[in-house]
Amino acid sequence: MKRLRKVRANSKERDQSAETRLSANDLILPYFVVEGEKVKEEIVSMPGLYRFSIDELIKDLKTLDGIKCILLFGISKNKDNVASYAYDKKGVVQKAVKTIKKDFPDLCVMTDICLCGYTTHGHCGIVKNRSKEGNDFIDTQATLDVLSKIAVSHAEAGADFVAPSAMMDGQVEAIRTTLNKNGFNFTKILAYSAKYASNFYGPFRDAVGSAPTFGDRKTYQMDYRNSDEAMDEIEEDIKEGADIVMVKPALAYLDIIYRAKKRFDVPIAAYSVSGEYSMIKAQAKGDRNIEQSFAIEVLTSIKRAGADYIITYFSHDIVKGLRKNDV
Ligand code: PBG
Repeated sequence: MKRLRKVRANSKERDQSAETRLSANDLILPYFVVEGEKVKEEIVSMPGLYRFSIDELIKDLKTLDGIKCILLFGISKNKDNVASYAYDKKGVVQKAVKTIKKDFPDLCVMTDICLCGYTTHGHCGIVKNRSKEGNDFIDTQATLDVLSKIAVSHAEAGADFVAPSAMMDGQVEAIRTTLNKNGFNFTKILAYSAKYASNFYGPFRDAVGSAPTFGDRKTYQMDYRNSDEAMDEIEEDIKEGADIVMVKPALAYLDIIYRAKKRFDVPIAAYSVSGEYSMIKAQAKGDRNIEQSFAIEVLTSIKRAGADYIITYFSHDIVKGLRKNDV
């Protein structure tokens, strides 16, 4: 008989023999930025999280406590059919990046690159023919042009990473080429490579106001029944020049993270999305300790599956919890 329980005798032994160690270095914290000043508005669908104006965001960054990387989402009232405001030099994300980089030059700043928060129809691409709804109503080339313009505007502002999340074929290549052409050879790309059409994005779409007004995202985001296809998506993004590839969501997709980690040499990120956050919040019913231990278990499982980076809304609280358990 093997005495497998011997490493579980007390917390010291358990800490020492732990195969997976979650730390603040693994975590990336998303932020929602809005226009205006002195705005810190709680998001109803994601309790405990806020929409921040830039001044308030800067205050919050002072509380980061060990987190080295953030991911910015802009929330815009200026929407049109072609997402023009998304690449406005004076847009909310562009201004936020500039200010953050001035005040926190060492903080790694990533920016989401997509159209859905800036289009009146709420789709992640340029819509070409609404009467063909259900078929492919997205104009890929027109979308790639806009995504590339957004990426350059964020790079100009000082973003360390741009993170294309529109799930358009060729988006990494288009962005890489345009960045290089404009002299941003050192701006890195975090690619949302295997992004599934998921029910888990609901609370986020409420937060950003980015739900599509017709149809759904199934003609560009992946079908959750597929796993081989995720490997193809990731492989293609690596070829196109991605520095980090991502699987999204995380918790219901641990098998995909595991496969990707086994197969590819580039760092793998996993996005523990808004629905995962809300599920844990609902279970904890306001009890901070329950919330923290749930979140740490879930995030540890994502790391155990193979994620090198985890994007999570829990980062702030988790870091405090990790300190307690740190080894
Ligand atoms: C934009 C985008 C979405 C998320 C990240 N980037 C929403 C979507 O695809 O509908 C979801 C994040 C979350 O749910 O936490 N394309």
